[in-house]
Amino acid sequence: EVFVVIMAGGVGSRFWPYSRNSRPKQFIDVLGNGKSLLQMTYQRFLPTASKDNILVVTNDSYSDLVKEQLPDINPEHILTEPARRNTAPCIAYAAYKIRKKNPNAVMVVTPADHVIFQEENFTNVIKTATNAAQGSDKLLTVGITPNRPETGYGYIQYINDKSEVKKVKTFTEKPELALAKKFLESGDFVWNAGIFVWSISAIVQSFENSLPDIAEAFAEGNSKYYELDEKTYIDQIYPQCENISIDYGILEKSSEVYVVQGTFDWSDLGSWNSLHEIREKDENDNVVDGQVILGDCRDNIVKSETKRLIVLDNLEGYLVGDFSDVLIVCKKDQDAQFREYVAQAKKLK
Ligand code: GDD
Ligand code: MG
Repeated sequence: EVFVVIMAGGVGSRFWPYSRNSRPKQFIDVLGNGKSLLQMTYQRFLPTASKDNILVVTNDSYSDLVKEQLPDINPEHILTEPARRNTAPCIAYAAYKIRKKNPNAVMVVTPADHVIFQEENFTNVIKTATNAAQGSDKLLTVGITPNRPETGYGYIQYINDKSEVKKVKTFTEKPELALAKKFLESGDFVWNAGIFVWSISAIVQSFENSLPDIAEAFAEGNSKYYELDEKTYIDQIYPQCENISIDYGILEKSSEVYVVQGTFDWSDLGSWNSLHEIREKDENDNVVDGQVILGDCRDNIVKSETKRLIVLDNLEGYLVGDFSDVLIVCKKDQDAQFREYVAQAKKLK
C-alpha cells in the first residue's frame, strides 16, 4: 500500500512579493493555467496512490488554504504544524501517522512547489522506487541531471552500475559554490529532486538512528493519549523538535540511500528566471500576466496583480511586478541581488 505525503509548509521567499508568508508559492497559480502548484502536485500523484492515501503536511495557518484548494482530501489527512521546523519533523509526523494505519506501507514524500513535465515518465520513476522500497531498508531519492553549479540543492554521487536503482556513495546538501562546481565538472553527480520513497519501517529506523529525539517524540504520539487528542499532543511536542531538514538530518548520514534517475523535466522554480524558462512566452520572449502594453520589449516577466495598466518600452531582461503594496523592477537573472532587496524590504514592511 502506497501513501503520498505532500510537504506544503514552506514560505517560498524567492518569489516575493508574489509569494508571501500569507500565501506561499505552492498555493499560487504560478504557471497561469488555473491550478496552484499544490493542486498540480496532488493530481500528479493520483496514478500512484488512492485519494484516501494522500496526506498534506502544512502549517496551522495554511490549513484553510489546503482545504479550499484540495476539497477532495480527507480532512484528517491534513496534518498541521504549530511551528516551522523544516522537513524532518514534518516527515516524522506523517510517517508515524501512516505507521498506525499500515506499518508495512510505502511512503512517497514530495514537495508541493515543483513543476514536472512528462508526467507519465514521472509516474514510472515513482513506480520503480516504490517497488524497490517495499519491504526494504532503502531510502530512495530521485536524481536530476544538473546543468549549473546550483548551491541550493543536494548533490548525489552514486555507483554507476547500470541498474535502475543505484546505490548512493555520497549525499551533500547545499554545497558551497566551489564544491558545487567540482561536482558538476566531475560528471559524477546528480541533483536531489527532493522527492523521497521508503518503507515506513526504513524511515522510522532512520529517525531512530539519526534523529532519536524526533523519533521518540512522534513514537510517543502513537499512544492512547494522542489518539484522544492528537492536536494538543502535536502542539506540545512540535515546537520542541529540532529544526532540521531531512537532507541534513538523515540523507547525509545514512548508508542506505539509493537513487533512481528522473527521466522527466523538472523545475523547483527557484528563481524568477526559472519561471521565465518554463512559462509560455510571446513572440519576443516576454511572459505577461495582467494588463500590459509592450513596445520593443524582450525577455521580460511582467506581472500585474493590480488594476493598473502597465506600459513598458524598450526593456530587456527585467522582472516588472506590480502588486497592491509593492512595485518591483529589477533584472530577472540577478538572484543574489534580488535576495538582498527582499531582505531589506521585509525589514521595512
Ligand atoms: N510541512 C512543512 N513544514 N513543509 C515544509 C517545511 C515545514 O516546516 N519546510 C519546508 N517545507 C516544504 C516546502 O514547502 C517544500 O515543498 C519542501 O518542503 C522542501 O523544502 P524547501 O525549503 O523548498 O527545501 P529546499 O528547496 O531548500 O531543498 C530541498 O529540495 C531541493 C530540490 O528542490 C532539498 O531536498 C534539496 O536536497 C533538494 O535538492
Ligand atoms: Mg525548494
